[in-house]
Amino acid sequence: MNSETHDGYTRRTVLVTGAAGVAAAALPLAVNAEPVAPGAAMQEPRTEVRLRINGEPHALAIDPRVTLLDLLREQLHLTGSKKGCDHGQCGACTVLVNGRRINSCLTLAVLHEGDEVTTIEGLGAPKKLHPMQAAFVSHDGYQCGYCTPGQICSAVGMLGEMRGGMPSHVTRDLVAPVVFSDEEMRERMSGNICRCAGYPNIIAAIREVAGTAGART
Ligand code: FES
Ligand code: FES
Repeated sequence: MNSETHDGYTRRTVLVTGAAGVAAAALPLAVNAEPVAPGAAMQEPRTEVRLRINGEPHALAIDPRVTLLDLLREQLHLTGSKKGCDHGQCGACTVLVNGRRINSCLTLAVLHEGDEVTTIEGLGAPKKLHPMQAAFVSHDGYQCGYCTPGQICSAVGMLGEMRGGMPSHVTRDLVAPVVFSDEEMRERMSGNICRCAGYPNIIAAIREVAGTAGART
């Protein structure tokens, strides 16, 4: 097929000429770009934030783009909170902020100035377990354990919500039983996925702490 144009140009000469023109037009931009000194580090933006984590005050200079989960895990080495999906679908990263459960992968740390954050490490210790931690142990509420910190924090937050939004440290002292059906409990805990499917044992553990063990209302 003859690809010559009526001006005597071939398809090839048009493309080559065009490419050269584009390169020439781009050249001044490349020449005008600021040279980066060899070995120069990129400056990360920093923002100060003060918050309490597991009862301890922290004043931190952080990248404003960092999530609360990454702050906890990567900078403070509180690795109990897990990163499962990193976009709000599994609940493995659940922590308590001012007594309310949240997915820490979905929130920026800088938004929590002055907040009280409680992670699984702050709920209890091996020799002094939170009642919810003890119930998960006694009911075998875990298998691989990856979802467990999030399940426990979420369960504590859920009972707090049902008792009128009590802060997490108050729910350590068991108060009035919370009465609700297994169906409601499953719905309220549906943001926490267990890939080992330990749900019956998880529900039994939560029900014990709710003070209505064995009840099916
Ligand atoms: S890691 Fe946050 S919801 Fe999955
Ligand atoms: S215990 Fe394995 S994911 Fe829940």
